[in-house]
Amino acid sequence: MKEKIGNYFSLSFLIATCLLVSCGQNNVIPFPVPTPIDNPMTEAKIELGRQLFFDKRLSINNTVSCASCHNPKFAMTDRLPLSTGVYGRTAFRNASSILNSAYSKTLMFDAHVPSLEMQAIVPLQDHAEMGHNMKYLIPKLKGIKAYQSAAREIFNRDFDAFVLTRSLAAFERTLFSFDSKFDRYSKGNENALSAIEKKGWQIFSQKLNCVSCHAPPFFTTYEAANNGLYHSYEKDEGRFRIHNDSSDIGKFKVPSLRNIELTFPYMHDGSMKTLDEVLTHYSQGGKHPKNQDVRIKGFSLSSADRDALKSFFSSLTDTSFLTTIYGKKWLVLPPF
Ligand code: HEC
Ligand code: HEC
Repeated sequence: MKEKIGNYFSLSFLIATCLLVSCGQNNVIPFPVPTPIDNPMTEAKIELGRQLFFDKRLSINNTVSCASCHNPKFAMTDRLPLSTGVYGRTAFRNASSILNSAYSKTLMFDAHVPSLEMQAIVPLQDHAEMGHNMKYLIPKLKGIKAYQSAAREIFNRDFDAFVLTRSLAAFERTLFSFDSKFDRYSKGNENALSAIEKKGWQIFSQKLNCVSCHAPPFFTTYEAANNGLYHSYEKDEGRFRIHNDSSDIGKFKVPSLRNIELTFPYMHDGSMKTLDEVLTHYSQGGKHPKNQDVRIKGFSLSSADRDALKSFFSSLTDTSFLTTIYGKKWLVLPPF
């Protein structure tokens, strides 16, 4: 992250962010929040973004909000293999958790969208997600008195695409998850993990080297990799869609494993229902597509080791995010 900090990060914005979301209190936010120069965090902006995030009027027929697919109850996912958008349409992929997306170096499974501000336009206009068109959506939202007056007050301009994307992104930058048992253990509390969870962490990090792609603290390196899910990828060729580079076929951005026990089903197409299925996939060493990453090698695990790994996965669940921390981080409790 360091190389980005020079360009995008401003200390005063960090301090503002800290004041807003209680940095330091329980060390909830251990890392500086990279904030674009043109989108400083303010309390009013975050609140506007929060309202927009939960507002179904952002979709063409007023039935789908961002939160329909990024539901706080499920660690900002929707528990569907493929998301459902407007008119019951099926989205192309499984909804990603957007917790800690403030720190993402790239967004989307194709690892190609550079900022939350730019990303927001995608679901709004995706035919199968919110199905809208900025040309009609902006006048619609501008016509809502509360949004137009918030835009004037916060941005000193009429409600437009700039206001919409900046506010949504500012809100998303407050969605953190850093208070799992594993986090407490990392901070030095030896007792935060049980013996079996510690053993699972050892297997994950040392024996199987899963950390080469799912590296702490975010449990991803943000790179696009081919984990050997399929032998061929006709239905969804992954990052290949962006640059037509054949070495990208079957490469997807490595997902974070934080809150992994809450965010099933798994993979870009939601094709695996359980962590057991995922472990079986990796232990078999992938399906050997052309671009399979050399780090996917296969292994054998005793059932005790498998149980330990699953216990370790549970230790990545941040229950405080699901309950008490809302009150602090979300300026007003979200409507769910
Ligand atoms: C119909 C379901 C649906 C709706 C509605 C939706 N999303 Fe998503 N979201 C997805 C899916 C599916 C993906 C994964 C897409 C991909 O990677 O190709 C995703 C990915 C994302 C990502 C990237 C996460 C990452 O780490 O790569 C962000 C950020 C995001 N959505 C924010 C939003 C915002 C903001 C809204 C509202 C304006 C929204 N989403 C509305 C389904 C949805
Ligand atoms: C070469 C990099 C790489 C290595 C090594 C790796 N993974 Fe992954 N992992 C990925 C990618 C890429 C995906 C997403 C693939 C997709 O969506 O099709 C993924 C997905 C997952 C998922 C599903 C996440 C979700 O939210 O859908 C789990 C769980 C997982 N990996 C666990 C592991 C475990 C356990 C290991 C060690 C045995 C491991 N991974 C090793 C790259 C890797």
